Amino acid sequence: MRFSILAFGLMFVTACANELVYERDLPDPIAANSNSYTDCANAAWPPSEVGVELKPQAPDNELKNMLKEVNAANIEASIKKLVSFGTRHTLSNQTDPKRGIGAARDWLESEMKKYAKSSEGRSNVAIQSYVQGVASRIPFPVTISNVLTTIKGSTDPSRVYVITGHYDSRVTDVLDYTSDAPGANDDASGVALVLELARILATRQPSSTIILGAVAGEEQSLYGSTYLAQTLKNSSTNVEGMLNNDIIGSSTGDRGQKDPYTIRAFAQGPSTNEAAAKAAQRLTIGGENDTPARELARFSVEVAANEATGMNIAIIYRLDRFLRGGDHTGFLAAGYPAIRYTEPNENFAHQHQNIRIENGTQYGDLAEFVDFKYVARVGKVNLATLWSLSEAPGQARNVTVNTAALDNYTRLSWLLGTDTNLKSYEVVWRATTAPLWTHSYDVGLVDKVTLPLSKDNVIFGVRAVGKNGYKSPAVYPFPA
Ligand SMILES: *[C@@H]1O[C@H](CO)[C@@H](O)[C@H](O)[C@H]1NC(C)=O
Ligand SMILES: *[C@@H]1O[C@H](CO)[C@@H](O)[C@H](O)[C@H]1NC(C)=O
Ligand SMILES: *[C@@H]1O[C@H](CO)[C@@H](O)[C@H](O)[C@H]1NC(C)=O
Ligand SMILES: *[C@@H]1O[C@H](CO)[C@@H](O)[C@H](O)[C@H]1NC(C)=O
Ligand SMILES: *[C@@H]1O[C@H](CO)[C@@H](O)[C@H](O)[C@H]1NC(C)=O
Ligand SMILES: [Zn+2]
Repeated sequence: MRFSILAFGLMFVTACANELVYERDLPDPIAANSNSYTDCANAAWPPSEVGVELKPQAPDNELKNMLKEVNAANIEASIKKLVSFGTRHTLSNQTDPKRGIGAARDWLESEMKKYAKSSEGRSNVAIQSYVQGVASRIPFPVTISNVLTTIKGSTDPSRVYVITGHYDSRVTDVLDYTSDAPGANDDASGVALVLELARILATRQPSSTIILGAVAGEEQSLYGSTYLAQTLKNSSTNVEGMLNNDIIGSSTGDRGQKDPYTIRAFAQGPSTNEAAAKAAQRLTIGGENDTPARELARFSVEVAANEATGMNIAIIYRLDRFLRGGDHTGFLAAGYPAIRYTEPNENFAHQHQNIRIENGTQYGDLAEFVDFKYVARVGKVNLATLWSLSEAPGQARNVTVNTAALDNYTRLSWLLGTDTNLKSYEVVWRATTAPLWTHSYDVGLVDKVTLPLSKDNVIFGVRAVGKNGYKSPAVYPFPA
């Protein structure tokens, strides 16, 4: 089954124990109103008197047209150009016009400026720099430069979404800044994706502000992205989502295994990024799978795992892979929802390696190992996610559940938003063991609701619905 994660879809069918229930699409229809053990044993949890089966948010024509513009040839050209700078090590030459990270930085700026010309003034390109002092992987002070395109939102400019790839590269020795370090997959692939989205989005008018960044210093300790996140946090910027693309260039693993229609989305659970009291409460109320990062990953599946992108999204309930880190980490530390996209089968002979042939095996992060069409599909996943975030209303604020009464109901409340696009709110829910939302209930433009569904039995979320049909990521309610 190609879109396997969608196979969790449930159907609204029969009656069991006098309740309407949702159940899996079984081969033999079950007679309505039957109450036998066998029928009820087949019925999916939870029983509900309200709501409908949650349908994924299908792309509208505008989004479909944008997705068609994602071009594998552009991505290939960008990756090969980035490889041509020899090394893009953070400590490499910053003034040589041909070789080193400075040449790559200047090329990225010129590309972004070229795209920004078609934005009628909405896009602004800037290099954000600071001097990083000596640290464990920084033997001498070095300027770290992020190359950023900011597209100002047309109706909600103060709500911001960020997407990044890192343009620095490395070989086996993390301090070796002179050897060739092509970094075609890690992470010219992510940067090429960001450039392609900057090109397409410059010709559109996103409702919210989108920052597209090529960041540096990742291999030395996530310096560029952490600086960007801290700058946004220090200016109290409302970042409602961050997408990190790092090693998104190949779906072929080191045993030759292929999975060209899947991208992983790493989403962190409870962590010390959250205030201690809230983190402790999260664990006591079964909220461990509903951190903002995990809601963002679920949202990405709902809007971007479909025919229009041609991709499945495998959510991984982890911050990152073992022994590895990434640029979403600084955003999570700043309190922002952030996830990492990475290919499903990594080949470690093609990452962080000196270029060489050893025992008949080619080592090194070379462009020949990148599948440009795969990168383009991952680009579509990102574009569908980013655009759907940007066009939906801002997420529901101060969502709480009233747990004062020992009853069979659920009382949810939140603050009424002020977005001009806001049409209503939806309560979504799923079994506590389910990965994705299965049910939704449009409750109108209200700030509270009482549902005939026990708060003990399911996981609830509240999301805002736009007049344009776009829906925000769900917010998990904490007890008031
Ligand atoms: C960087 O390259 C320029 C031009 O080739 C050269 O003049 C300069 O000395 C180099 N800088 C360093 C720190 O190697
Ligand atoms: C953010 O603010 C903190 C606390 O004032 C400060 O230490 C830090 O240098 C600032 N970071 C940036 C990137 O502005
Ligand atoms: C190549 O083979 C030699 C001899 O068997 C071995 O010592 C070495 O670890 C191998 N190299 C790699 C990268 O596997
Ligand atoms: C909403 O939540 C924020 C952050 O927790 C809090 O500072 C604020 O007082 C809350 N507002 C209302 C009206 O409850
Ligand atoms: C909970 O639901 C049961 C069955 O409908 C009902 O008998 C009971 O009164 C309810 N309890 C409360 C506290 O509402
Ligand atoms: Zn990387």
